[in-house]
Amino acid sequence: MLDDGARSWEESLQLANAFHAWGYEKLIVTPHIHPDFYPNTPVDIHTRLAEWAQLLHDHAIPLRVEAAAEYFLNEQISESLEQNVPLLTFGKRYLLFEISHLQEPLSLKDFIFKASTLGYQLVLAHPERYEFLSAEKLDDLRHRGVLLQVNTMSLAGYYGKFAQKRAEYLIDRGYVSWLGTDCHHVEHLPVIQKARASKHYRKALSLPLLNHSLL
Ligand SMILES: [Fe+2]
Repeated sequence: MLDDGARSWEESLQLANAFHAWGYEKLIVTPHIHPDFYPNTPVDIHTRLAEWAQLLHDHAIPLRVEAAAEYFLNEQISESLEQNVPLLTFGKRYLLFEISHLQEPLSLKDFIFKASTLGYQLVLAHPERYEFLSAEKLDDLRHRGVLLQVNTMSLAGYYGKFAQKRAEYLIDRGYVSWLGTDCHHVEHLPVIQKARASKHYRKALSLPLLNHSLL
């Protein structure tokens, strides 16, 4: 229950029950960190996480929950790296980030280099949704060590045909290291249900996804 996610604790419980019913054992939530739109701080995120974990415990929902963040690449995150301010990560220092949907940020390669040098393993959120990122550019990012996380909902066509086709392309080539849901609220549950029934979702599950390394 942060930024544009669940609107009440009741809704958070509904989401948790749905994921539990799908067989999930652990959820890692990644609220946005974007100074203009979502000025969440690590303290805000961990406070809400503790409240949510308590609620799950009180309602006997056997799901483990953790939190990291989805960082928007801008000057602020670059400055945080310069000053070596610790960023929210999950697993083995995986750092989830997203970029502008309009154009490739000028600082992208510099950011990748700096973050990698500091020992972060970069994970690009929803690479299938950036129309300006050609297949060659995505290859270049992978060769720079960036792991790709596809949104499950892309496979249901939720973000349009381009994102769906690109997600399928990435799965077909085995370039996907992570699957995220992008689930924000209960209206997303039927979309995820539809995506889970797709051929490419099953194909994605046959890849050596790193999601399994986090249990
Ligand atoms: Fe995002």
